[in-house]
Amino acid sequence: MLKIVTVVGARPQIIKAAALSRAIRNSFADQITEIIIHTGQHYDANMSQVFFEELGIPNPHINLNIGSASHGEQTAQMLKGIEKVLLDKKPDYIVLYGDTNSTLAGAIAASKIHIPVVHIEAGLRSFNKSMPEEINRIMCDHASTLLFVPTQTGIKNLEKEGFSSGTKAPYTSDHPGVFHCGDIMFDNLVYFSEIAGSKTGIMQKLALDENGFVLCTIHRDNNTDSPERLQEIISAMCYIAENLGLKIVIPLHPRTSKIIENKLSKDLQIRLSGNKNIHLIPPVSYLEMIMLEKNARLILTDSGGVQKEAYFFKKPLVVARPETEWVEIIENGTGIIADADEAKIIESVSYFLEKDSMDFPDVFGDGHAAEFICRTMLEQIPSSRFLNL
Ligand code: UD1
Ligand code: UDP
Repeated sequence: MLKIVTVVGARPQIIKAAALSRAIRNSFADQITEIIIHTGQHYDANMSQVFFEELGIPNPHINLNIGSASHGEQTAQMLKGIEKVLLDKKPDYIVLYGDTNSTLAGAIAASKIHIPVVHIEAGLRSFNKSMPEEINRIMCDHASTLLFVPTQTGIKNLEKEGFSSGTKAPYTSDHPGVFHCGDIMFDNLVYFSEIAGSKTGIMQKLALDENGFVLCTIHRDNNTDSPERLQEIISAMCYIAENLGLKIVIPLHPRTSKIIENKLSKDLQIRLSGNKNIHLIPPVSYLEMIMLEKNARLILTDSGGVQKEAYFFKKPLVVARPETEWVEIIENGTGIIADADEAKIIESVSYFLEKDSMDFPDVFGDGHAAEFICRTMLEQIPSSRFLNL
């Protein structure tokens, strides 16, 4: 039996972990046993518990309850907590997702005590090291033994950093295995998109029509923590609702709600809350979110995951960031980088509203990344297993 410890902490990791847990449950239950650690990075019920319930993920075996703190303090506490569990459980692998502080803590904790790191969503780069996520993903990739890469761009990024996708087993952190496997978030979309409609009433609750609204999410620190950038983005949203005949639905990350409440100019707060075409709502569940994505006319976001989901549902995308890791979407012309520039956001939205149809070639895999990852982990059981810890 292969024993893995999975670390989750932030909302998107819980969602990604659902796909692997489901694959284990359905196809590898007699070969893989999974222990889930929740760092507690996200802790509000609508940022964490809702996903365990809705996506059928086993409850975390261990919750470190770290919560919010500065980068250093949060990561240090996670590192300490994860190391303790690893020393106790002695897994064959630690499985990490994405690029959050929980990912980084898991990578440092495991690699220092020679537990092979499996990084899912490896190889992504924004080439902007002012993003905490860029630091986290580079560090995690370079401590990993098995790197599962969603796109060909990710493979190229790794090759530029000295990785090779042609290495042969046995793999170690000095001789890692790099695998192009498609995007694990697609596994969930393929699995849940058909049933989401019958399980949620979000469209009716908000009285939304198909293609009658723009879906927006904003949470990146460089947007929330810069009053000028946030002002530009929110002002663009207000313009769209006031002038382009579309409703705006904004499920707000708690980070953004706090800043809007405390830092946004009073004028803009009134414009935002006084417009009946703008739905400022708390974070929604995953099934609600994919119903909103499926029915939106367009998506405006700075989220990594939501960008890909827009592509999956064949929706035009406006990215409120200076760059993206998901460059395929921009290259295909179905997304535009508008940064936090009000005029550019409005211009991009207007451009897409006048465009009839677009092609969305497959770039994110076939929806079976999780099975591939499980099979590969089983084939490559590390030679260092049962190391004296
Ligand atoms: C984190 C990740 C980011 C990811 C995002 C997904 C890092 C460095 N960042 O950003 O890559 O895109 O999660 O959503 O790991 N808060 C609450 N309740 C919660 C969680 C957070 O109120 O349940 C508030 C707190 O004020 C907290 C702030 O949000 O200080 C930021 O939370 P944090 O987890 O540090 O970063 P995110 O912005 O969520
Ligand atoms: N999501 C959700 N409810 C929301 C907003 C987002 O379920 O109110 C989902 C979304 O569908 C995607 C994931 O959360 O699967 C993206 O997470 P987030 O935007 O927080 O982080 P990122 O992907 O940028 O790291």
